[in-house]
Amino acid sequence: MKKIIFLFSVLMVSFCAIAQNKPADTSYTLPDALVSQSGKKITTVKDWEKIRRPEILKLFEENVHGKTPVKKIPLRFITTSINTSALNGTATRKQVRIYFSKDDKYYMDVLLYLPNNIKKPAPVFLGLNFGGNQAIHADTGILISDRWFRYAEAPAYVNHLATEASRGTQSSDWPVEKILAAGYGLATIYYGDLQPDSSGSVNAGIAPLFYTAGQTMPADDEWGAIGVWAWGLSRAMDYLQKDKDVDAKKVAVVGHSRLGKTALWAGAQDKRFAIVISNNSGEGGAAITRRKYGETIAVMNKAFPHWFSANFKKYNDRENDLPVDFHELIALIAPRPVYVASASKDQWADPVGEYLSAYHATAVYVLYGLKGLNTPVAPGVSQPVGDGYIGYHLREGEHAMRLYDWEQYIRFADRFLKK
Ligand code: GCU
Repeated sequence: MKKIIFLFSVLMVSFCAIAQNKPADTSYTLPDALVSQSGKKITTVKDWEKIRRPEILKLFEENVHGKTPVKKIPLRFITTSINTSALNGTATRKQVRIYFSKDDKYYMDVLLYLPNNIKKPAPVFLGLNFGGNQAIHADTGILISDRWFRYAEAPAYVNHLATEASRGTQSSDWPVEKILAAGYGLATIYYGDLQPDSSGSVNAGIAPLFYTAGQTMPADDEWGAIGVWAWGLSRAMDYLQKDKDVDAKKVAVVGHSRLGKTALWAGAQDKRFAIVISNNSGEGGAAITRRKYGETIAVMNKAFPHWFSANFKKYNDRENDLPVDFHELIALIAPRPVYVASASKDQWADPVGEYLSAYHATAVYVLYGLKGLNTPVAPGVSQPVGDGYIGYHLREGEHAMRLYDWEQYIRFADRFLKK
């Protein structure tokens, strides 16, 4: 079995290498964020907000992510633990279980650290995590998740379940002490609390809560896992708005990779997120899909058929027919600040395509009289750009979220949230 997995990995790596060596297609024409479907040129904020923004949001809903159900469900917030002198007294750690149903069947667990070094309410970074809350820090007070894990290497995970050994295993993605020292809180949730990251597991997540009579899976234009995960971020925001120690007007939503795709979609739909940060989100996230560089729609939809709506599969190998491209996903975040980050060895996610999305979203920020990015030429490694409302950097190294990334996010967030 190990041999087969090894061979499979070698094949995947070579396949990715081949796909990456293919140069980007630069002959594309992007859909114009500022021309409505009826051909009207959008020149005012009013027309953007009344006509074009709703149109673009709808196009993403119908063709890409799928629709998020509008039904509001009652939430229950149960604080399961509070420690006011966590992490050697530097932090207050709260754990809150948010129930989505009257019974105890549907819930997610929020882990919240707040800095003790500032007067609360505190600004907060909010993001989903891959390894369970206990993986973000070695703090033994964190509840170990008993959910199913897709990426589950022993000894941290055995039979797809987390063990004690998983504590702190993803701490390099979550520099908690640095975030706290900078005067921010951190709220995080294991994404598998909302839906397991596996095709065929939709009914093991929260989606059935929204089914109509007789429905057994989301319709072709309804959400996939990314929509479900993004919904979870908005429910975390519902909680943060109720927590007096949090400044809910100052919440930056952040995510890495598939969870970066998720952060962008959450930020596009929910205007309560003050800043949106995409870390190495790639295809279906920040990257311009028409470049067909690195991962493509078809490759992603085949490997992860459960992430987006069934409708999105219509665009496998038909990028140019998609009525949107991903600069418009970034544009939906305007006028709120947005930050896109890439990594030099993460060609699979198309760093240049990620930059270009941020650049092409600029036109919409300009409508608001705000500064975006002013050149189509992506910067080199370790040269963060953007002194306006759009920020970008290319970190040296692999596909990951690292201290360098966080340093830039904090620097960017400081300009808006520390005023
Ligand atoms: C795969 C996938 C990407 C995704 C990444 C991740 O590489 O192809 O689309 O962003 O996993 O989530 O780590």
